[in-house]
Amino acid sequence: MLKIGNITLEVPFFQAPLSGYSDYAMRTIAREFGAPLVFAGVMLAKSVVHPKVFNKPAFQPGDDEHPIGAQLLGENAEIMAKAAKVVQKAGFDLIDLNFACPAPKVVRRKRGGFLLNQPDKAIEIYKAVKESVDCPVTIKLRTSFDSKSYDNFWKLCSGVVAEKVDALTVHPRSVCQRFAGLADWQFLSEVKKQFPSTIIFGSGDLFSADTINNNIKKTGVDGALIARGAIGNPWIFSQLRKGDVFLPPTLEQQGRVILKHFSLVCKLYEHEKAVRYFRKFASAYCKLHPMRKNAQKATLAAKTVEEFQAAIQQWYGNEKP
Ligand SMILES: Cc1cc2nc3c(=O)[nH]c(=O)nc-3n(C[C@H](O)[C@H](O)[C@H](O)COP(=O)(O)O)c2cc1C
Repeated sequence: MLKIGNITLEVPFFQAPLSGYSDYAMRTIAREFGAPLVFAGVMLAKSVVHPKVFNKPAFQPGDDEHPIGAQLLGENAEIMAKAAKVVQKAGFDLIDLNFACPAPKVVRRKRGGFLLNQPDKAIEIYKAVKESVDCPVTIKLRTSFDSKSYDNFWKLCSGVVAEKVDALTVHPRSVCQRFAGLADWQFLSEVKKQFPSTIIFGSGDLFSADTINNNIKKTGVDGALIARGAIGNPWIFSQLRKGDVFLPPTLEQQGRVILKHFSLVCKLYEHEKAVRYFRKFASAYCKLHPMRKNAQKATLAAKTVEEFQAAIQQWYGNEKP
């Protein structure tokens, strides 16, 4: 059992915020496979305070998906605090602040990972948000802006730990590194050593249950956020829950999950869009197929809901070619 503020979780691994992916459909599948907490993709605070923008399906929490986290991005403490109130009112149970995003358009606007250059500003944002809501507030950050110095990282963490942050998630790469190189999980041991009483989660290069278990054990962190490793592979959650006795899904089981995920997507989006939007998920799911390239080709060629369903039936059903 793990507690993040007033939220109790049975197991310490969750589905990470994933812009463009972690909508209601993906979150539902992740929960069904055992993720005890899921996150919507990052939301721009400035847009959240604008009711029309906030209506996007990706950002709406369903009644059946508690606990669910929202993640906010912004550089203005007052707007971030207002946005936090809006998302809590909308039904989110936890608010995470993004001080990690390396996207150039975000960094240029002094948001996300840029705030690793401005620890005082980041701490001010955290305090404003914490005061404005009565749910847990957590922070996701990288280890530095450009790997030249880690001073700002320690300053930022010490500042929010002093203000009783509910948890810190660290993706151990620099902002400038984006996704290059390997995540430096050794750094996570140091973070946990420095802040033994704070809940620390790790994120980065988590593609298998073994890696996740080993990294948690080796570093002493409290848990992990699963990001790319959960796209097209919700079985990662059941494998983590079941441990050694996990049996990989059969093709029929994979096909059923793909069709279920797709049908949830079809409820969220107009059908032509749903087929286009689902291609990236289908492509990821197909990685588990023994004839991956052919399965990908067939599913990506589908232009309508019926064609997509037929392709899955053909490659995952009983009448495989
Ligand atoms: C497509 C995609 C979207 C992402 N969206 C977000 C996001 O909205 N908020 C966030 O904090 N991190 C986001 N991330 C970063 C992940 O949450 C995670 O920290 C990162 O991918 C490292 O974990 P991994 O190597 O196991 O994927 C995103 C990553 C990817 C690949």
